[in-house]
Amino acid sequence: AVSLLTPHLGNGYMDLTQDFAALLPMDVISTMIHVPEPDQDMVRGWADDLIYREDGQFGLNERNINAYFAMGNYFDELATEMSEKLQGEDDIFSAVLQAERQGQLTHKDVIGFGILLAIAGNETTTKLIGNMSYRLWQHKDQRQLLINDPSLMGKAVEETLRFDGSTQMIGRQVMKDVEIRGCKLKAGERVGLCIISASRDEEKFDNANSFDITRGSRDHMAFGKGIHSCVGASLARLEVAVCMEEILRLIPDYEIDEAGLQRTHNPNVRGFTHVPISFTPRK
Ligand code: HEM
Repeated sequence: AVSLLTPHLGNGYMDLTQDFAALLPMDVISTMIHVPEPDQDMVRGWADDLIYREDGQFGLNERNINAYFAMGNYFDELATEMSEKLQGEDDIFSAVLQAERQGQLTHKDVIGFGILLAIAGNETTTKLIGNMSYRLWQHKDQRQLLINDPSLMGKAVEETLRFDGSTQMIGRQVMKDVEIRGCKLKAGERVGLCIISASRDEEKFDNANSFDITRGSRDHMAFGKGIHSCVGASLARLEVAVCMEEILRLIPDYEIDEAGLQRTHNPNVRGFTHVPISFTPRK
């Protein structure tokens, strides 16, 4: 985090997403899935293209499909190459390859895991760093509180996940007919659950619509629920805490140029692609 922020400190301005938040999670997940450094920008570019949706777009367009195939081909080759090299390494992609060797996963599953991890490990964490920087800038009293007492960082990350989580929805299939608050759902139907709204349920959280970094509730829905809840939750929490710690230490007085904020074009991923900031330059 420090080495990514340092080159910008003397300038007094940077794009917090493009110059920082988009880079660190990709570096980390790439290490875990063995994407070599020279390929990382290319893989991140595909991930961005894959999730990009035009206004009013339904289904996938050519840009999304091309990115999907490019990533599929890439992880096909990487998995084949790695499969020959790796023996007994203790990391997530090696575990997936091991499962293929043991007949528990097909080669297509392995390619799917590569794509899933490259996207899941990258987009949402990047966006949460932007969302947290934005909310702390909007609520400067909260930012000062955190600067004065860095031990609040864990709670502040949880509150950002609850108040402005970077995944808006999860999908589920209805197992049996059910009625929830007057809404009838039939077995077999597919539903989109708006977890970002559940995390602001006023029956569950006092002042649900206020951003309070001392709240400390981990009982939100930002990482989903059940056996498919987010595999990377601990990693994401750690990455965001480390990034925010360094931002607040190195550029505590950052101001956001609100007119330059740009949101991600995707109905599910919530956050900014551009967060232009200025701050007091330092050596
Ligand atoms: C702030 C960052 C993140 C957020 C908000 C987030 C959110 C989510 C959500 C909501 C789900 C669906 C859960 C469900 O259906 O119940 C999910 C699944 C998943 N996430 Fe994350 N995630 C984040 C970071 C990460 C990271 C860093 C990784 C990679 C290590 C990751 C890997 C995955 C995977 C593999 C799944 C699928 C799990 C399954 O279907 O069993 N996520 N995530």
